[in-house]
Amino acid sequence: MNYQRFFQLFLFASLFLPGLPGAFSQSAPITRMGTTNTASFDDGWLFQRYGLQPDGTRKEEPAALENMALNDASWQKLQLPHDWAITGPFRIELDGSTGKLPWKGIGWYRKHFSIPATDTGKQIFIDFDGAMAYAKIWLNGKYVGTWPYGYTSFRMDLTPYILPRKENVLAVRLDTENWDSRWYPGAGIYRHVWLVKTAPVHVAHWGTYITAPKITDRDAVVNIALTLNNQSQKSATAIAQTTLYELDVLNRPVKKVAATKESIIDLNAGEEKITESQATITRPKRWSIEAPNRYVAQTVIKINGKVVDTYNSPFGIRTLEFTARNGFLLNGKRVEIQGTCNHHDLGALGAAFNESALIRQLNILKDMGCNSLRTSHNPPAPELLELADKMGFLVWDEAFDAWKKGKRKNDYNKIFDEWHEKDLKALIHRDRNHPSVFIWSIGNEVLEQQNVQLTKHLAEIMKREDPTRPVSNGYNDPDGGRNSGAATALGVMGVNYFFGQQAKWDADPRYANMPTIGSETSSCVSTRGEYYFGSNDYQNWQISSYDNAKPGWGCSPDEQFRTNAKYPNLLGEFVWTGFDYLGEPTPYNSDETNLLNFRTDPSKKEELEKQLEFIRKNNPPSRSSYFGIIDLAGFPKDRFYSYQAHWRPDLPMAHIFPHWNWPERIDSITPVHVYTSGDEAELFLNGKSLGRKHKTPGKDFRLTWDSVRYVPGELKVICYKNGKQWATDIVKTTGEMNKLVLSADRIAIKAGEDDLSFITVKVTDNAGLVVPRSHPLIHFSIEGPGEIVATDNGNPISFVPFQSHDRPAFNGMALVIVKSKGGAKGKFTVHAISEQLAEGSIEIENR
Ligand code: GAL
Repeated sequence: MNYQRFFQLFLFASLFLPGLPGAFSQSAPITRMGTTNTASFDDGWLFQRYGLQPDGTRKEEPAALENMALNDASWQKLQLPHDWAITGPFRIELDGSTGKLPWKGIGWYRKHFSIPATDTGKQIFIDFDGAMAYAKIWLNGKYVGTWPYGYTSFRMDLTPYILPRKENVLAVRLDTENWDSRWYPGAGIYRHVWLVKTAPVHVAHWGTYITAPKITDRDAVVNIALTLNNQSQKSATAIAQTTLYELDVLNRPVKKVAATKESIIDLNAGEEKITESQATITRPKRWSIEAPNRYVAQTVIKINGKVVDTYNSPFGIRTLEFTARNGFLLNGKRVEIQGTCNHHDLGALGAAFNESALIRQLNILKDMGCNSLRTSHNPPAPELLELADKMGFLVWDEAFDAWKKGKRKNDYNKIFDEWHEKDLKALIHRDRNHPSVFIWSIGNEVLEQQNVQLTKHLAEIMKREDPTRPVSNGYNDPDGGRNSGAATALGVMGVNYFFGQQAKWDADPRYANMPTIGSETSSCVSTRGEYYFGSNDYQNWQISSYDNAKPGWGCSPDEQFRTNAKYPNLLGEFVWTGFDYLGEPTPYNSDETNLLNFRTDPSKKEELEKQLEFIRKNNPPSRSSYFGIIDLAGFPKDRFYSYQAHWRPDLPMAHIFPHWNWPERIDSITPVHVYTSGDEAELFLNGKSLGRKHKTPGKDFRLTWDSVRYVPGELKVICYKNGKQWATDIVKTTGEMNKLVLSADRIAIKAGEDDLSFITVKVTDNAGLVVPRSHPLIHFSIEGPGEIVATDNGNPISFVPFQSHDRPAFNGMALVIVKSKGGAKGKFTVHAISEQLAEGSIEIENR
């Protein structure tokens, strides 16, 4: 099935379906693992910020902000997810590696809520999908617990302190002052929060573990390991039964396919017990990238004939094989890993999670041919895995960027000893039913890459909790990792950038059978729409988009494709990165960790040291990365087409760059490059052929005409594949900018929810061609029941706040993100106005 159409259909249809979670019914969509009595707890929060303030001053944190009686009437009202730092302001003196945003501070959240009398005797839990960082939680003034690592999902049991029929006050304190990061981590309760109510005897948190020990085309044996909890004072006998349903593309359980026998489980007071049962699915529909078929296991717990808990666990059936000689096999077929690494921020929205923003990102990656995601370098929002399951992405699910030794002062090292096992367990228990998750990663370029004992210890925890997937680690010292023997604890060797010794390791008996993957590759850097000529790729804190610029450890996409072709046994690659992200604006970044990439290369190290010194002295305004194949606003850079050409060889496509507006370069040499999935191409300038070029397989991944002399007019490329015409592209010199043209990723959104429409603004000439070097200031406004959430243009050095309704276009483009207002159905119009240009507008419907 055409994937894009499948997903459009899904999005369209989901507009008319009720949200999740809610009471279970056979036709309601099921996305998330958990008990059916789970409700969103995102609304009605109050917030105050103490410690470091946005302007750099300090505000003293008063004592006892958790007290029930505290007068919080003046606190800011808000809805979660919330990132307190994305409103900025950007400040030049702040660290570029964390986005020049004031994310350090102490945040307090409070929420008043009541529990009806009918809930008396129930267990009441609050589930946080993630809170940055050092969360401490109180209910009604009583301390409930803590979870320091900001990326882990966790549960708190509110039952001992809850007051049924009365007002309850929940208080959460977050502290980012004691957390350090190499990228923008965000700050606050930046993911969803849920209120969960169960009977005292219930399925434990993430209490199902579903595996398929036998899979053939004829049948699949599904094993359900169920953890039941008895939190009452009395012993109990529970009856558990799990029924398996097929999920349709809208996540609705459409067809019952199997059921386990009933298990009788005796539980003492306070006891937790694991029981296993099996069911067989006949002719299972496998989960794959092209056909992401899924099932749901619905577990019903009864006591004395009465249903006390109903628990849904979406899962999928597929086989994974990792081989050292023949790559990675999904359901017995080789799949080349065409992956991207991504950080968790959503550009102009900051770290505050939003599902429609993530869906947009995943659609763009899918269109490029990306089939795998690496959650660098931490556990993702749970929705990422839910969407990966549904859309057909494989996921490298990663735990840490540091172990006992921090890359920064207050890194994970501060909590490693006490928390690493709890964090790993939380990651695995939450994520192990997802068919998309295919590799666990215990780390990224940790400073203890050669530590055999520690590597073993962490890998063993992972294997104990889920023996069905291999454990990996991202090495930027792969020689050290292998020489020490540490890598023998792993199932897959992750190599970041350094493939120089690959042939040697392929021949080494200790590692000859170790599958190897490019856990991080390329790190090419560029700014969308900027092109510099001659040898200098770097100007005005921007970077040329000819796709050759890279830090000393990186390489162009083409170079990495050559490496992959040289080592066909590699499982594939995860490019650093799919999207630009906030922070880490290498090479205009002063993060010294990068020196570790040159352990054995003193001259490169010295060169980088000088560069870091220069950056420290000059303090660039760069606040987001240049690594993305796609910019921060979600607009593809040229590189997008390099990957698309390589990753989707059957898609006829061609892409010419640069643009053709160079009035100052008349008659100057202006190289023209073409990415195409064809194997040959002829370029024409104003109708005159500039020659036909051919790709040598495994060597050429773009076609280049490097001695073109610029004259205005039209560049046209005709591409061929196997001798037949395959694709064309045209780039023309444009006229003056004339109007603003708006288009939306979705013109219908859900009323009253956090559903977003992403509207692209193009600055065009009279004929509708995008004027590439135009930067007009645009004012955005709304007429009707809608509101502007954020604006952006992908410029990594802009200090305009993301919330501003005025934003210049950057190289001919801008983005405005809108949502419905006040829950009203109906249409609203988004206007984009700029002096001397014809206004652009678009209508969005709240449904
Ligand atoms: C790697 C590191 C990533 C990022 C990248 C930039 O060494 O693992 O987190 O810093 O370099 O090239």
